[in-house]
Amino acid sequence: MKLLVWHLHITTSQQCCWSSAEALPLVEALKLSQDDTLVFPKSVPWIKYSGIHDGLHIHIVVPGKDAVLGVDNVGTVSGALVSYAAIQALQPDLLINAGTAGGFKAKGACVGDVFVATEVAYHDRRIPIPIFDKYGVGATKTIPTPKLVEALGLKLGKLSTGNSLDMSPQDEEVIKSNDATIKDMEGAAVAYVANLFSVPAILIKSVTDIIDGGRPTTEEFLENLSMAADALLKTGICVLKFLNGKSIADL
Ligand code: ADE
Repeated sequence: MKLLVWHLHITTSQQCCWSSAEALPLVEALKLSQDDTLVFPKSVPWIKYSGIHDGLHIHIVVPGKDAVLGVDNVGTVSGALVSYAAIQALQPDLLINAGTAGGFKAKGACVGDVFVATEVAYHDRRIPIPIFDKYGVGATKTIPTPKLVEALGLKLGKLSTGNSLDMSPQDEEVIKSNDATIKDMEGAAVAYVANLFSVPAILIKSVTDIIDGGRPTTEEFLENLSMAADALLKTGICVLKFLNGKSIADL
């Protein structure tokens, strides 16, 4: 199986929330090597690490850093672009979008939980015109993975995606109507691109902060990032082990 893991670099750097390059735990754990020259155009900051692990051809791609500000690229634009380029070049059998998310305690999320998204939607694409309103929300189901979820003891929940770390009152209203348990900044965009090319996608999100918990999101996010990254790494390795020798229908 050829596997594409769309991964945010996660470190505990206090300067920027999602930091790049120096420490990508899954890349190190799998002993993958950087190899993007023939895949992405020269001018883009996107990075690909590749290798073979337990018979799986694994490519991990990350969106790299902003050329001007030097912080990591986050959000739906780079998420969609990297996904498009990587899927075109690598033709994966499965895409995994692994990253962090905020969670709602009212929906059962706790810091450190690792969720598999059952559905994705947007909360910041408000188009109050009939039918376009639905298009903006873009609710889409993900592929079912009941055996994977059970074997690894993961939680299930709907994911809502938007381009802000915080949550405006308008976002909140749409997130609630999306029935979301977790909130991120890339998932729906990555899933959209995967769907365009009929590539099955699994979205795995580790919770760094509780949005309805009363603490400032940024503070809680930074405090828990390292622990959430650890949980994501452990889950990522277990997912890869589980995938070994299986087809998508076995998940
Ligand atoms: N990633 C981690 N926490 C998040 C949040 N609260 N909102 C969006 N993306 C996140």
